[in-house]
Amino acid sequence: MGTYAVTGSASGMGSAVTERLSAAGHVVIGVDLHDAEIIADLATGGGRSAAAAGILERSGGVLDGAVVAAGIGPVPGPDRARRIAQVNYLGSVELLTALRPALAASGDARAVVFGSNSPTVMPQVPGLVFRAIRAGRVEQAVRRARIFGRAAPNFAYAASKLAVTDWARRAAVTPAWAGAGIRLNVIAPGPVKTPLLDEELADPVAARAFQSFPNPIGGVGDPGHLADWVMMMLSPAAAFMSGSVVVIDGGAEAWFRAGEWPRPVAIWHMPRHLWRWRAFSRLSSTDRAEPSSRPLPPSFH
Ligand code: NAI
Repeated sequence: MGTYAVTGSASGMGSAVTERLSAAGHVVIGVDLHDAEIIADLATGGGRSAAAAGILERSGGVLDGAVVAAGIGPVPGPDRARRIAQVNYLGSVELLTALRPALAASGDARAVVFGSNSPTVMPQVPGLVFRAIRAGRVEQAVRRARIFGRAAPNFAYAASKLAVTDWARRAAVTPAWAGAGIRLNVIAPGPVKTPLLDEELADPVAARAFQSFPNPIGGVGDPGHLADWVMMMLSPAAAFMSGSVVVIDGGAEAWFRAGEWPRPVAIWHMPRHLWRWRAFSRLSSTDRAEPSSRPLPPSFH
């Protein structure tokens, strides 16, 4: 049985993942603002450091997996854009970075980041806000988001999820992650029935937009179903998975952008493509991952 860290373990999808891991007999170190093994505010640097220190202490420095599900949604409010950048981006990236040595110590770990389909279905996610968040410059991101007025939290939310996804995909394939046997992947849900969505839809403007938003399957996602996908991404079935984004959104993204991915490498991208190809061949064999040695349970054959 393994040891797993789960942020946002007190509610919604983080709670559903925690239940499933515990039911399977694993040790779960939950992190949340309340009702968790470690009470920490991931919006602050001190809270993130305390959470990391607590997880490392309780796990003995070896983790089989980490799920960073703590997040806040895009509801109006003067401080919301700032907290979105702090929790959704820094609360995921800084914490996972601090946990990386413990994940590497297991030799065959999994990490799952909660992104969202919002960056890919919401039009005009502002590049300036995205780049400020990705650089960890929260105050700059807040200033840049301010021009969107009441909608600033919506743009900050989509930008924070774009930034965390971008970070995960870039980090996942590096020697520090893939080379250390850590399978780092992103789950990108559409609307899922949790307190976060309820809070968002309590705003009449958001509720109206939601009613008319394209949703080919209809309804909203079930937190338990999303947790089942996360369990798969933590399982031996994810042994060959790195830097992937699993979109589970009722088909909204495909409705808008079916032709945009997959796409062949364009001729003008060839120089960069060849440069990346050569960069990989220059990695020493010690920087590359060993194939997973974890046996697949019968249900996965
Ligand atoms: P939720 O609101 O049910 O759970 C989020 C948890 O994060 C809560 O327990 C909350 O206390 C914790 N949290 C919030 N701020 C924190 C902080 N500063 N420090 C520590 N913990 C904190 O939300 P849900 O829906 O389960 O969300 C999980 C993840 O999925 C989030 O990252 C969210 O952005 C993402 N997501 C949710 C969607 C939805 O429709 N519910 C859609 C797409 C992505």
